Amino acid sequence: MNPKYPHLCAPITLGRVTFRNRMFAAPIGGTDITADCCVGPRTPAFYELRAKGGAASVTASELVVHPATDASHMFHLDLKTPGCLASWTWVADAISRQGAVPSVELSHSGQYAGTYLVDKDKKKGLSQYGPSDWVRPDGISVKALTLDQIDDIVKAYGETAALAKRAGFQMVMVHAGHGWLINQFLSPAFNHRQDQYGGSFENRIRFARRVLQSVRDAVGSGFPIELRMSGSELFEGGYDLQGGVEIAKALEDLVDLIHVSAGSYQFGFFDTHPSMFSDHGCNVYLAAEIKKHVKVPVATIGGLNDPAQMEQIIASGMADVVEMGRAILADPELPMKVMSNRDEEIVRCLRCFTCMAERPTTGTRRCTVNPLIGRECEGLELVPAAKSKKVYVAGGGVAGMEAALTAARRGHQVTLFEKSDALGGILKSEQAIPFKYEMYQLSLSLAKMMEREEVTVLLNTELTPEILEREKPDALIIAVGSTPIVPPLPGMDGDNVVIVNNYYLEKERVKDQVVVLGGGLAGCECAVHLGMEGKQVHLVEMRDALAVDCNIRHRPILMKQVDKYTTVHTNCQGLRVTAEGLVCRNADGEEILIPGQTVICAVGQRPNRPQVDALRFGAPFVRQIGDCARVSNITNAIYQGYHAALSI
Ligand SMILES: Cc1cc2nc3c(=O)[nH]c(=O)nc-3n(C[C@H](O)[C@H](O)[C@H](O)COP(=O)(O)O)c2cc1C
Repeated sequence: MNPKYPHLCAPITLGRVTFRNRMFAAPIGGTDITADCCVGPRTPAFYELRAKGGAASVTASELVVHPATDASHMFHLDLKTPGCLASWTWVADAISRQGAVPSVELSHSGQYAGTYLVDKDKKKGLSQYGPSDWVRPDGISVKALTLDQIDDIVKAYGETAALAKRAGFQMVMVHAGHGWLINQFLSPAFNHRQDQYGGSFENRIRFARRVLQSVRDAVGSGFPIELRMSGSELFEGGYDLQGGVEIAKALEDLVDLIHVSAGSYQFGFFDTHPSMFSDHGCNVYLAAEIKKHVKVPVATIGGLNDPAQMEQIIASGMADVVEMGRAILADPELPMKVMSNRDEEIVRCLRCFTCMAERPTTGTRRCTVNPLIGRECEGLELVPAAKSKKVYVAGGGVAGMEAALTAARRGHQVTLFEKSDALGGILKSEQAIPFKYEMYQLSLSLAKMMEREEVTVLLNTELTPEILEREKPDALIIAVGSTPIVPPLPGMDGDNVVIVNNYYLEKERVKDQVVVLGGGLAGCECAVHLGMEGKQVHLVEMRDALAVDCNIRHRPILMKQVDKYTTVHTNCQGLRVTAEGLVCRNADGEEILIPGQTVICAVGQRPNRPQVDALRFGAPFVRQIGDCARVSNITNAIYQGYHAALSI
């Protein structure tokens, strides 16, 4: 077989270690931390899943090298804490037994110590240390590190690296980006020292060089060191790309791979983690420029998930390695699918930030499109069913498709009934909104995989009680979805009204001045899209806040887009639609006209209960999943679909 993406699939050697391809799994903070800051029992499986999927290297994160000055409740590695070294050994082992190179990120968050504490009161009470005294934008004071503390931290990097090597890691990543401690020393915005660590470039780079030298002395030559840096801090006062080039040039002699990320914590979170509103690969230019000036290989990262784009990046010499964080959480098998020319089966990351939002919310990880994430060691991976059963699935939306696919993968004979002429359910409507296209693409990937697993798909066919009576399946999964709510307002049936779910079919009917009724997630995102298309958009919401159902990471960035592209009217209740727009009652009880040639109705969904009720006794095993059970989101639809099929 000739690989479709030969550059992406080519091995690379760093130091004395050869990596099986150019796709590296970037660090994604582990959440399974024991009370004494060791790696918990779930962690090896968290990393092993990505190693199994074919990544060339998997970096475990984020190992705090000097707990005395970096007081976050994060992973430590020392010989004093019973079981600590062993816990890391199991992580390295879990990665390397799957053919990936195990790496671990050595980190110090400096002035951002405590960032990941779920207990925000405790975070306020911590001591934060950085290069200089200052008060952070959120009011937290930072103390300047003393020269003795700096010496101690430098030593700790080396000691931790040596222990990591002893635990079985075959590479270390030194985190010098994203505004963490080493970055703070490099940054003219944060480093105001007047001693040998501040002022001139030579002084600002000194801490990084000492750290890297300490690590190199500990691990020896030939053991690869990956330097993670921000190519540019991307905020005013921080270093720019030219500064990034100088930093890379000044450190390259001590490392084997320069990993160019972007941005700085608190000042550019969405540069580091590009959202669905950014282009894929929006940070590649940083790596490409740095690569022109250094001899060591360079890695790039940021919103990458498309093999064709990644192949082009490597083939054109912009970078030697591509790293993915969220894309490999979403589909750990992405590298294997690329290596075996099955890229159309890749389940793409939606950049919805569920993964990020889950940690501050519940202290765990989750992924919208991957039901295993954060639950990798619960025995949930697919195993063939003891007996192959006849499984019927009613509904070809995302929940039904995930259930059908999973059941088929377990060896059941699956038939999926979809009453419309296409699979995808509510996700079909996302195809007209470019920044949500990957949600639509999810339905295409699921359809492709169902085809491969020989699921019988019957389109234009509603599963009825009569069919069930006649065919007697062993198991029935009901995934018949939901219907848009259309409030019974005068004028709602007019030609100037479009239901948000039908927008993709009726796009041409939407004129230049639009009122979107409903400021939930769907309404906000549609309004932003219309604004991006150059339309004048009014967004109307009855409650006092928008997108309250949205996760805490995606919401702030969505709100920025809403502010940019729409005029918002909260506490405003729609009363009737007229040819001039939407008449509403505002917070003062007055009737006002919000002008618009088109009104888009986006007030939510209602479960299709009558259809569920008709089917609910249709087989010995019955499970209701997705919106028809309770209107929710893609995360729950996928999760329930997977688990329904696992239970058969
Ligand atoms: C849930 C989550 C956890 C992360 N944890 C870490 C971490 O512990 N250390 C780190 O250096 N970067 C961390 N990152 C940043 C990623 O390594 C990566 O730089 C970023 O997500 C951009 O890459 P992507 O677009 O491929 O996801 C995290 C990102 C996410 C989404």
